[in-house]
Amino acid sequence: MKVLIATEKPFAAVAVDAMRKVIEDAGAELALLEKYTSRQELLDAVATADALIIRSDKVDAEVLAAAPSLKVVVRAGAGYDNVDLEAATSRGVCVQNTPGQNSNAVAELVFGLAVMMCRNMYNGTSGSELKDKTLGIQAFGQVGRNVARIARGFEMSISALDPYCPDNVMEDAGVSPVHSVEELYRENKVVSIHIPATPETRGSIGYDLVASMPKGGLLINTARKEVVDEEGLIRALDARPDLKYAADVAPERAAEMKARFGDRVFFTPKKMGAQTSEANINAGIAAARQVIAFLTTGEQRFRVNK
Ligand code: 3PG
Repeated sequence: MKVLIATEKPFAAVAVDAMRKVIEDAGAELALLEKYTSRQELLDAVATADALIIRSDKVDAEVLAAAPSLKVVVRAGAGYDNVDLEAATSRGVCVQNTPGQNSNAVAELVFGLAVMMCRNMYNGTSGSELKDKTLGIQAFGQVGRNVARIARGFEMSISALDPYCPDNVMEDAGVSPVHSVEELYRENKVVSIHIPATPETRGSIGYDLVASMPKGGLLINTARKEVVDEEGLIRALDARPDLKYAADVAPERAAEMKARFGDRVFFTPKKMGAQTSEANINAGIAAARQVIAFLTTGEQRFRVNK
């Protein structure tokens, strides 16, 4: 059995070593394709793979068609919008993710970005503190819950919106539930986005929500760039010179936004949220174990396609 780890943005070496051990101890073979720069490299590498472990690597119908032996794809991470689930299902390929394994890393980055933006990029001018400020968390999943845990240490006043999470789960975490996205943006000085990219959420955060934020508002997006309507965001930042936006991974119009808004916006050049050795180890080992469990026993608890 051949397990291919294909990562355009590689795991830390220590994570790959740990994954190798899980895979080889189970009698499987590990193939490694890291930092590939062309699609053809991925297409060639999947040709003989029985299992595939990826990060944000795009696995679409063409990649699946190039992998006739493929039985399972595990996305080492939370979001699986990079995998064509329908194409996988039609080929009988099981797709899984590893929920929760990198969520602390993403949550810590939220605060790294928040402090940096509140301190004006450390440019020597007086900034502001997070203590006693209102924080709105958009979606109370694994990352959102870690954000709330850390925000309590900053003594922020925390609310969250999540139609799929009962109010009492938020309340037990010291978080006030809100029930509309309008209220979340209108009432919170800092808003942190943690919704997945789905057909319903794509482009759902636009001018009206951003422009409704309180004076001095800061919007942080460590989710997916696609959930923000860039045109609406740009209009809101134009209309409201007090607002700031920080995102983990540059939007399509990053250069234009940087030129127009300067230090009011910040973008990581590559997605950095889960880029810690701890997160790589957690998500990588979980992915390797899930692959082996699937290949040996058919276990598919974390399956995300039907
Ligand atoms: C996730 O969905 O788990 C994060 O966005 C991490 O993505 P990455 O593995 O590409 O860093």
